[in-house]
Formats: sequence, structure tokens, C-alpha cells
Amino acid sequence: MAPTKLLLTGATGYIGGTVLTQLLESTITEIKQLSISVLVRKPDQAEIFSSKGVTPIIFNGLEDVEHLRRVASEHDIVLHAADSTNPAAAEALIQGLAENQAGIKATKYFIHTSGTSSLGDQPVSKKLIENREFSDKNDDIYSYLKQREAVKSYAQRATDIKAVEVGEKTSGVNTLIVKAPIIYGRGTGFFNKKSFHIPVLIKGALAAGHAQYVGDGAGVWDYVHVVDLAELFELLVSKILRGETSNLPSGKKGIYFANTLRHSWKELAEGITKSCYEAGRFGSPKTQSLSLKEAADIYTGGNEYIAEVGLASNSLTNADLSREIGWAPKMTEADFQQSLADDLNLTLNSA
Ligand SMILES: NC(=O)c1ccc[n+]([C@@H]2O[C@H](COP(=O)([O-])OP(=O)(O)OC[C@H]3O[C@@H](n4cnc5c(N)ncnc54)[C@H](OP(=O)(O)O)[C@@H]3O)[C@@H](O)[C@H]2O)c1
Repeated sequence: MAPTKLLLTGATGYIGGTVLTQLLESTITEIKQLSISVLVRKPDQAEIFSSKGVTPIIFNGLEDVEHLRRVASEHDIVLHAADSTNPAAAEALIQGLAENQAGIKATKYFIHTSGTSSLGDQPVSKKLIENREFSDKNDDIYSYLKQREAVKSYAQRATDIKAVEVGEKTSGVNTLIVKAPIIYGRGTGFFNKKSFHIPVLIKGALAAGHAQYVGDGAGVWDYVHVVDLAELFELLVSKILRGETSNLPSGKKGIYFANTLRHSWKELAEGITKSCYEAGRFGSPKTQSLSLKEAADIYTGGNEYIAEVGLASNSLTNADLSREIGWAPKMTEADFQQSLADDLNLTLNSA
């Protein structure tokens, strides 16, 4: 029998690279038998993937939706880790999976990587206060996203909704969405090994001479180590391959969270400043509060909405469903604190 074919996007990136390594090093028999392809933009990177037993497919980018469709049509599972903010690319990949179905009985799967800023409130401007924690098992996350999107469009949210809705009306394709909070820790892929969220704040801290937070920094977010996250993707893929899908919700109910730790933005700034101070970069372990406008100018190209939901909001998720299907993250608070020093080194070395 021909092996199941999995297509991974974002394989040169932080998340996709770590997921690829997790799959390549998996001890699960069904995953070892997978045929894995990756979509890549650069021929020199393609050669490296070939040397690792992965089939590279050169493409111009996610904007070439016709090509995405064609490539997806030759696969059974698409794991999309390239861009959580591109509805057209998600749609093309799902529709592509639905093509070439003649004689194929197994359901195909689209696994989408997303984030949790789309759930974030606006505690600084006070335009939206959410005193709640979301559960991927007990709450209707899809309806909540729809309700938020009707008020304010946000690309990550629009892409999640698009994936669910295209999947629901596309026969033979199920969609799963992993909504990851802030991802920390060193990636294990062949190329980018660094997240963007915390390193961007480290860069800002190094430029200012102290770490920064917005307003009172009281908003709280969840965190997940990139390897724990990659294990969740591995688990989802293994369940699909083993046909253990009766307890694997998809579509509107197939939105999975991945939280392990929780910190306020002020605590994060304190952690960053401490690691910079201990590395001899700062004269004192000071932090600084920024206004929303100041934060937007420094970190988000002047966009105050993105600064607020991405750097100041509350976004509290409980991965009840992910844990129920067997996800067992291992990383601890000590790993998180250690990762701040590691991110500082990676940021200094890539400057
Ligand atoms: N890191 C986090 O904390 C976090 C949390 C939740 C969600 N996310 C979302 O997950 C996605 C991936 O994040 P990441 O941290 O892994 O980012 P990353 O390290 O920058 O990797 C992005 C990957 O996607 C590819 N890519 C991006 N835009 C593309 C385009 N237009 N056409 C073709 N390929 C493209 C890149 O390819 P090249 O190497 O060719 O550029 C790379 O392989 C992002 O949308 C991010 O917002 C991230």
C-alpha cells in the first residue's frame, strides 16, 4: 500500500521546523511510515530537506494559490504552519485536499496552526474587557470567533473561520486548528530556531536599556514550549494515521488549545530584564511602562489594535480537549526562565 502523504508548510520556520523534526524523530510506527513533503521557497534549503529524507517542493509562496491547490491535491494530510493570517492559502490547501478523491475512502485532514491573540481583549483602551478563560472542550470557540470577527476584522481570526467553514462545506476533508499561545524555547528545525514574540520584546528591551510592557502590564497570557507544541501536532497526526478519529473533534469543534504556563506582561518584562541584567547588559533590573501608542510605534508599526491584543491583552485558554486526547506537555517554569536567557543569546547572536 502506498504510504500516507503529509504536506508541511512553514518547514523552514520555527514552528514548522520543530514539527518536522518531531515527525522525523517520532517513535510512532505509523508516523515513521509517512511520506513527508515540504513546500519551500529556496533551492538551497530544498537540498537540505532532500538530504533528510523529506521531499521538497519548490514554490513561489503562499500567494500562488493555484499551485498550493495542486500540491495539496497530491497529499492526504496538510499541516499548515507557514502563516496563520492568510485565509486564501488555507482555503486553497483545503480545496486541494478534496481533489483527486476518486477511489480514496479515507478522510483527508487539514491541520492549521493559529494563535490566541484573536481571543485577546483590550484592557488598556478598555474597549473590550473579557474576564474569562476559554476551554477548547467546553466552550464554542468557533462561535466566539465569529462574534468577534463581526465587530472587528483580524486576519488570524478570519483565517481560522475560513478554515472551519471551507472544511465544513468540503466533502472528504476534516479541519483541525491548533491555537497556540506565546511559544517559547529553542526550535529544533533545520533553519529558524527562534520564536518572534519574546525575541521582539528582547530586542526592544536591548534598544531601550530596560524591558517594557504596556499600561499596567496586568494582562495575562498562556505560554507553551515549542517542543511540547510539536508533540501535540505529532499526537494529532498519529491519531489520524491510526484511524483513532471518533474522539478527535474536527470542524467547528476541532479547535485545540495548547497552554502550559501563564504570566502577566509585567512578569514577562521582569523576566526579560532579569536575564539582560544577569548577562551584564543592563545596569539595573528596571522595567518601563509604555502607553499603547508608544508600544504600537515601537513594536507594531503604529497599529494600536495589534499592540493591544498582541502585547497587553488577556488571552486565557485551557487545553482541556488537547489533554483529553492525550497531550501531556512536559516543560516547566524553570524551562521558561532558562529560555529567556537562551533567547537573549540567540537575539544577540543574530543582531
Ligand atoms: N511563534 C509564536 O509564538 C506563534 C504563536 C501562534 C501562532 N503563530 C503563527 O504561526 C505561524 C508560523 O510562525 P513561526 O513562528 O513558525 O514563523 P517563522 O519562523 O517566521 O516561519 C514562517 C514559515 O512560513 C513560511 N512563510 C511565511 N510566509 C510565507 C509566504 N508568504 N509564502 C511562503 N512561505 C511563507 C516561511 O518560509 P521562508 O523561510 O521561505 O520565509 C517559514 O517557513 C505565523 O503565522 C505565526 O503568526 C506563531
